[in-house]
Amino acid sequence: MNADQAWAAVEQAESRTLKSLFDAEPDRVERLAVEEAGLRFDFSKTHLDRDLVAAFQRLAEEQDLAGARDALFAGAIVNPTEGRAAEHSAERGQGAPESVALASALHARMRALIDAIEAEAFGPIRHVLHIGIGGSALGPAFLIDSLGREAGRYDAAVVSNVDGAALEEALAGFDPEVTLIAIASKTFTTSETMLNARSALAWLEQGGVADPYGRVVALTASPERAVAFGVDETRVLPFPETVGGRYSLWSSIGFPAALALGWEAFEQLLEGAAAMDRHFRLAPFEANAPLLAACVDRYYANTRRAETRAVFAYDERLRLLPPYLQQLEMESNGKSVKLDGSPVGRATAPVTWGGVGTDAQHAVFQLLHQGTHLVPVEFVACIEPGHALDEAHHRQLLTNCFAQGAALMAGKASDDPHRSYPGDRPSTTILLDRLDPATLGALIAFYEHRTFANAVFLGINPFDQFGVELGKEMAKAMDGADPPRFDPSTQALIARALGEAR
Ligand code: F6P
Repeated sequence: MNADQAWAAVEQAESRTLKSLFDAEPDRVERLAVEEAGLRFDFSKTHLDRDLVAAFQRLAEEQDLAGARDALFAGAIVNPTEGRAAEHSAERGQGAPESVALASALHARMRALIDAIEAEAFGPIRHVLHIGIGGSALGPAFLIDSLGREAGRYDAAVVSNVDGAALEEALAGFDPEVTLIAIASKTFTTSETMLNARSALAWLEQGGVADPYGRVVALTASPERAVAFGVDETRVLPFPETVGGRYSLWSSIGFPAALALGWEAFEQLLEGAAAMDRHFRLAPFEANAPLLAACVDRYYANTRRAETRAVFAYDERLRLLPPYLQQLEMESNGKSVKLDGSPVGRATAPVTWGGVGTDAQHAVFQLLHQGTHLVPVEFVACIEPGHALDEAHHRQLLTNCFAQGAALMAGKASDDPHRSYPGDRPSTTILLDRLDPATLGALIAFYEHRTFANAVFLGINPFDQFGVELGKEMAKAMDGADPPRFDPSTQALIARALGEAR
């Protein structure tokens, strides 16, 4: 058997209803549920069955998933188009020994700077403004928003958009006298981040701070550029080039979260992720959460031709999970060619979208229950509530979450077509015992490995992102001294909005 034949077995898998699968497999829930690191993954409401899992296992063998996974953890070049390893796992102690040692030395440097800030070496600091974009913003923002509600150590805000309204809003509540600015950029060239950083420095200066650069910390894989920008070398926190932007929250990019939540919490985050690393490396295929999740993803995208997948966090603290996953999954696997440059020939990453339950039920769930699109849904919820209000809130939240999954699957017949629900609509449920740094670390690492497993099934490189470059180049050219002529529509927009008839 070769990979094409293994794919054919997956893509031609017999389509059985969820109801018939539950009827035929009394042990279905136990078999398709995985418990790991304080998380329960329930894949039983998807169309995975024994045959399909076996077909994916053959595909994994043909695609040498075990070899690819070993290469990932060994720090081999798994990103050949950029000639790099992908060593985010080394940040949590799981990787090549020299990479783990480097990550731990850089973490020690980060911790020392946090200790110095706490000891008021830079004067009293109350606010932290983190400036970055994409992977240099979404991870820290997600961590702070989900875990930082009770920490109360520092007010931290994350600004990404170059729209001045974003920076203005973030600065509105901050006092320049007690604000620290963290400039986060792997490359230290990203134009939005550099402009926001310069405006934030001007704000410090206008606010009477005598040495604005003395209040800046840089988080980057290009320390020499940060120094050239004016940041003192002692306040540059480097991270390795082999840590990709959307995989970087474990590195110094996580600095504002480590500061706001405390070092202990940051370490627990890393430990939770390490537990998921070990699970991904060592658990057998049929009990391996990231691998089963990737089977679900590929089955719906390739066999059932679903074009999107939806993630609903039934926990307000996880409201930034969908945007975080959008970058992780779509920037990683939104590709059309295989590692060797040949066309991949089948659907790659679906569009990831989602929202928060129960809000989404009253907005977009109509389409999920009765619309014409097949949308595999993922529910993420926590057993322990994140608030001190009456337990009725949490009970209602969880019962709604579970009822949606049950309703999507069961459907309901009616003589009135407007009131009938087809059912047989799949969902996965991820249940956290509680939301804490360790479980959040495990959850995020689960998504990283699932994304990697999807890429291996498809034979694509999840670690480059050339698709984002063309638009950047054209924006730069448009804003340059000698702009080229663009298409007539674009020229008209430039003339109308910027008053430049070119
Ligand atoms: O434009 C995409 C991208 O390169 C992302 O991959 C990255 O996370 C983001 O921009 C920010 O890049 P940097 O950290 O170098 O500023």
